Amino acid sequence: MGKDMALSLARKGVDIVLTYHSGMDEANQVVEEIERLGRKAIALPLDMSKFKNLDPFLFSFFETLKAHWNTDRFDYLVNNAGTGATILIDDVTEKDFDYLMNVHFKGVYFLTQKALVHMNDHGAVVFVSSGTTRFSVNGYSVYSSLKSAVETFTKYVAKEYGKRGIRANIVAPGPIETDFNSAAIRNNPQMKNFLAGQTALGRVGNADDIGSVVAFLCSDEAKWVNGIRLEASGGINL
Ligand SMILES: NC(=O)c1ccc[n+]([C@@H]2O[C@H](COP(=O)([O-])OP(=O)(O)OC[C@H]3O[C@@H](n4cnc5c(N)ncnc54)[C@H](OP(=O)(O)O)[C@@H]3O)[C@@H](O)[C@H]2O)c1
Repeated sequence: MGKDMALSLARKGVDIVLTYHSGMDEANQVVEEIERLGRKAIALPLDMSKFKNLDPFLFSFFETLKAHWNTDRFDYLVNNAGTGATILIDDVTEKDFDYLMNVHFKGVYFLTQKALVHMNDHGAVVFVSSGTTRFSVNGYSVYSSLKSAVETFTKYVAKEYGKRGIRANIVAPGPIETDFNSAAIRNNPQMKNFLAGQTALGRVGNADDIGSVVAFLCSDEAKWVNGIRLEASGGINL
């Protein structure tokens, strides 16, 4: 989904710093695609699972802004990075919990806090949550609880940074056929059919169902949209 978000923003005229964890080659291909759209882009490595990585990442992010854009300011932050695991409550270990906590909440919280100091007034933050904060899925207790924490945090960002004209909103995708959770949907036709059957529009989502929604929320077209949870799920479990 991150790729489609970056391309959708680039089509709206936005230059991009995108991040990768394991997919350096794919990230550099996205950079090339953005450049073909006439925008500038740089890909930086980021591992949200280790909290000590956050400050070095932010240092290299601001160095990149200075080197390539001659500024230390930026307009939009999209918190999309994420990883999934299906673990029933009985089986969750502290290690699982801490990993997911760093990636999905602690890292997101402090990255946002530290980045917002440098965000231009009237910028926008988008947090990517999940349909599974509205309905429950076996094995997603930790992941979805952390996404719920992000949803609450979003409202506080919207409230506390509103005085700078900065908006903060949530995009909550339903099931999307990506690499997420070891490509659980793509690799499991039975699950895919089941989820499609639960969805009013009769299919699971694709990455390109989500990028345009994120780009919309960053744009002036959404200038009066603040502190909301926008679920993009084709109407699952209505
Ligand atoms: N797919 C769904 O059904 C679904 C539904 C609702 C919400 N979401 C949320 O949507 C977001 C994007 O998921 P996706 O479906 O696009 O999954 P994906 O295809 O697996 O992509 C996940 C992205 O997060 C990055 N990432 C993974 N672990 C990371 C880490 N430790 N540190 C930094 N980056 C990391 C990956 O980078 P590399 O590829 O470079 O490793 C990749 O760019 C996630 O926040 C996910 O929770 C997904």
